[in-house]
Amino acid sequence: MAVNGQQTTSNSACSDDEFWLFGYGSLIWKPPPHVDRRIPGWVTGYVRRFWQASQDHRGTPEAPGRVVTLIERSFWSSLVDSHASAPDKVWGVAYRIKASKVAEVKDYLDIREINGYTIHYTPFQPADGSVPIQTLVYIGTPDNEQFTGPQEPQALAEHIARSEGPSGLNRDYLLGLEKALNELSPESGDAHVTDLSDRVRAIEAAARGSKGTEDGGPKVSRVAESSPGSHDFHMATIVDTQEETEKV
Ligand code: BEZ
Repeated sequence: MAVNGQQTTSNSACSDDEFWLFGYGSLIWKPPPHVDRRIPGWVTGYVRRFWQASQDHRGTPEAPGRVVTLIERSFWSSLVDSHASAPDKVWGVAYRIKASKVAEVKDYLDIREINGYTIHYTPFQPADGSVPIQTLVYIGTPDNEQFTGPQEPQALAEHIARSEGPSGLNRDYLLGLEKALNELSPESGDAHVTDLSDRVRAIEAAARGSKGTEDGGPKVSRVAESSPGSHDFHMATIVDTQEETEKV
């Protein structure tokens, strides 16, 4: 709700004239349609983790990829996680949607964000210090079928490195998220995301190193470039046969 040009919190992310959405994953760099404001900031009380299987965007039903979800911090604290710490602030962006387009955007989001995610509401703190805004957020809660629970980081990185879905390579999602977070603020990096990104880059570098090993060593079907979005090829997996999946 806008009062004297200031935002105030309410129980709903939607009023007569506006609607606010919090993005903590791909929405950070892929805004929904009809956005008229984008504000960097954070929510608290949650931990961001790559613990949601993706059958529809960064994987397939046969080979689901991994995308982020938010876990309630109190629940996460009860789990054993190899990434044993997490920042108090989950950085992301709040988007304001024009009132006349709310129904259309909600339809778009429902199509885009299903696969285990459900709608929740949480206060968002703008980084510029202005008052909190109530936002709608999509969360894959621990009771949804796609929730994987804690993942061993190296196995998770290897899984991401070899996954792909209709929205593209899983590694592009991971590295795109790392880049988008780093661009929000000097303090908006997330060690969980950065560690996985470093591991994927190392996996890809190792694959590049082993490519051309002609004397019986494993061969790589495709080799990734190191920066997100700039690749022409990707490492499908380390295979003994040349099974190529060129991305168009
Ligand atoms: C996000 O970017 O915030 C997001 C994207 C897809 C599903 C849930 C959240």
